[in-house]
Amino acid sequence: MTDDGRWVEACSEGDLALNNPLRVEIDGLALAIVKTDEGIFAVSDTCSHAQWSLSEGEVEDCMIECGLHGARFDLRTGVQSGPPATSPIPTYLTTTADGTVRVQIHA
Ligand code: FES
Repeated sequence: MTDDGRWVEACSEGDLALNNPLRVEIDGLALAIVKTDEGIFAVSDTCSHAQWSLSEGEVEDCMIECGLHGARFDLRTGVQSGPPATSPIPTYLTTTADGTVRVQIHA
């Protein structure tokens, strides 16, 4: 993850419940936005195993679990914790100001 790209509005901070992923689409890119005790994270909403929507899964200890086959990904790094996923998911920088969550998109 590099520090270039453009910042786009993703959602309102008030839309986010703790550890409850919110799916948003920005320019055709599906993201899961997650508020945790460690901050607000944005990751690809698409599981790297079989393209399931990660926002339908559960979050615990800064890990999001895919609801289809149970792969888990670290919200901070996108790295999978084990099978069946064998590759990480993209992560995106976030910032919050005046109650608005913005995500840095590379495209
Ligand atoms: S689709 Fe996510 S673990 Fe299989």
